[in-house]
Amino acid sequence: MAVDPFAQFKAMQRESWARFAPLATSTTPAAASLVEFADIRAGERVLDVACGTGVVAVTAARRGARVRGLDLSPVLLEEARHNAALIAAEIDFIEGDVEALPYDDASFDVVLSQFGHMFAPRPEVAVSEILRVLKPGGRIAFSTWPPELMIGRMFALTATYLPPPAGVAPPPAWGDVNVIRQRLGESVRDLRFHRDEMRVPALSPQHYRAWMEATAGPLIKLVQTLADQPQRLAQFRGEFEALSGQFFQRNFVRQSYLMTQAVKR
Ligand SMILES: C[S@@+](CC[C@H](N)C(=O)[O-])C[C@H]1O[C@@H](n2cnc3c(N)ncnc32)[C@H](O)[C@@H]1O
Repeated sequence: MAVDPFAQFKAMQRESWARFAPLATSTTPAAASLVEFADIRAGERVLDVACGTGVVAVTAARRGARVRGLDLSPVLLEEARHNAALIAAEIDFIEGDVEALPYDDASFDVVLSQFGHMFAPRPEVAVSEILRVLKPGGRIAFSTWPPELMIGRMFALTATYLPPPAGVAPPPAWGDVNVIRQRLGESVRDLRFHRDEMRVPALSPQHYRAWMEATAGPLIKLVQTLADQPQRLAQFRGEFEALSGQFFQRNFVRQSYLMTQAVKR
C-alpha cells in the first residue's frame, strides 16, 4: 500500500477539527444554500465530502437523496450520526480522506463539499478522487472561502504565524474562480459560480476571535503552538481582531463565500 506523505499533516487536521461541532450552527444555513444550488433531487446518490457534523448530508437527505458522508474526524462523525438519527435519515457516515475515497468509480450522481475538500493538502489528488467516484454527467458542487474576504484573509494571517508544511496548498486558493477553472480543467463542463454570505453572531470582534479560537481547527492549532510565546500570541490576536473588525456589523461578522457547480464530462 502506498505511503501517504501527508499522513502526519492529516493526523493533525483530524485532531484540530475535533472541536468544530459548535461552529456548525453557522454552517447549517449555508448547507441549505449549497443543496439548493446543487439542485439535489429525491433518489440521487449523493456524497458529502469532509462532512463534519453532517449539515450538508442531512439537508440533502431531507430532500430524499440517498446520502453518504465522509470525514477525517471520528468525533464529528459521531455528531453527524446523531444529527441523522434525529430525523431517522439513513446516512452512511464513515471516517476517511478525500484524497483516498473508499468508494467505487462512478458511484455517485452528486459530490458535495462545504468548506471541506479545500483542506486537502493536494488539490489535484482531491479533484481526481472526487471526479473518479462521480458518474459521467454527475455534478460536483462545493462552497469555499475567497482569499480576499474574511476567512480567506484569516487563513493567510494564520499562515504567517504558523506556515503550513511544504507542499500543502493554501485552502483559500479554492475560493478563486480562476484557480477553480484551472483545477477542474477539461474534465468538467457547465461550470458556474454563485456568492452567498454567512452571518456569524458575535458581541464584538474580541468575542468572535475567542469563538473561532475555541472551534476552528487552524486557530486551535495556532493558539496551541504559540502557548509559550505570549507576545506573539497577543500580536496575532490584535491582528485578527483588526481583521474581523472590518467585517463586523450590528453584532455579526460577515463571512462571504463562493459556491461552485460543474458537470463531469
Ligand atoms: C470547516 S469544517 C466543515 C465541515 C462541514 N462540511 C460543514 O460545513 O459544517 C472542515 C472539515 O473538513 C474535514 N477535513 C479536513 N481535511 C480532510 C480530508 N483530507 N479528508 C476528509 N475530511 C477532511 C475536517 O475534519 C472538518 O470536518
